[in-house]
Amino acid sequence: MAKVLITSGPTREYLDPVRYLSNASSGRMGSALAEAFLAAGHEVRIVSGPVEIAYPPGCRVRFVTTTEEMLHAAIELFADCDGVIGAAAPCDFRPAARASDKIVKTGDDLYLRLVETPDILAALAAAKQGRWIVGFALETRDGPVRAMQKLQRKQCDLIILNHPPAIHSDRTEITAFTPDGAVLGTFIGSKTDAARAIYGWVERRLLH
Ligand code: C5P
Repeated sequence: MAKVLITSGPTREYLDPVRYLSNASSGRMGSALAEAFLAAGHEVRIVSGPVEIAYPPGCRVRFVTTTEEMLHAAIELFADCDGVIGAAAPCDFRPAARASDKIVKTGDDLYLRLVETPDILAALAAAKQGRWIVGFALETRDGPVRAMQKLQRKQCDLIILNHPPAIHSDRTEITAFTPDGAVLGTFIGSKTDAARAIYGWVERRLLH
């Protein structure tokens, strides 16, 4: 039995107490992956941003808001896991400053300075040791090339390429790439079945 960490859902970066930047992400893929791994008898820990879906009973979920919070929770939980699947869509930028009061309209344009947030999988890769990492890449162009660049940068053992129509949808179209650039498999269908396909690939290549 393996212990698997899944990051899931979006993160939020607030510019004032009521407004935030985020990514379009429902948490459905993370939830479906949790179901697939639980069904196969594995232990599942989830770190999730704010989502409306429910995660399956049987997995332990820690909810966070910002990318920085997701990073700290993921580092803590990864230490006790055999591998991680990065199904989250963390917000890559945050406002350089967060106003403590609601920003009021003045009639003028408002300019926001954004700074980059940490990359969670890349940070986990630095402490990877014998653990495995599965990443996702959602691309609008040059999918396979960009997915392989992400696989290398984040030291992934597998990367799952998907596409924008998957966002907030029950269906997805995925291709799994291995570190040598080979296509391990492809799948089109529900996220539930896609998660089972991903489980099969992970089981075959990474679980022992
Ligand atoms: O956003 P990007 O396309 O780089 O995401 C690719 C992979 O990296 C995904 O698995 C995502 O969960 C992960 N990621 C992350 N931390 C970020 C951005 C992305 O772990 N700040």
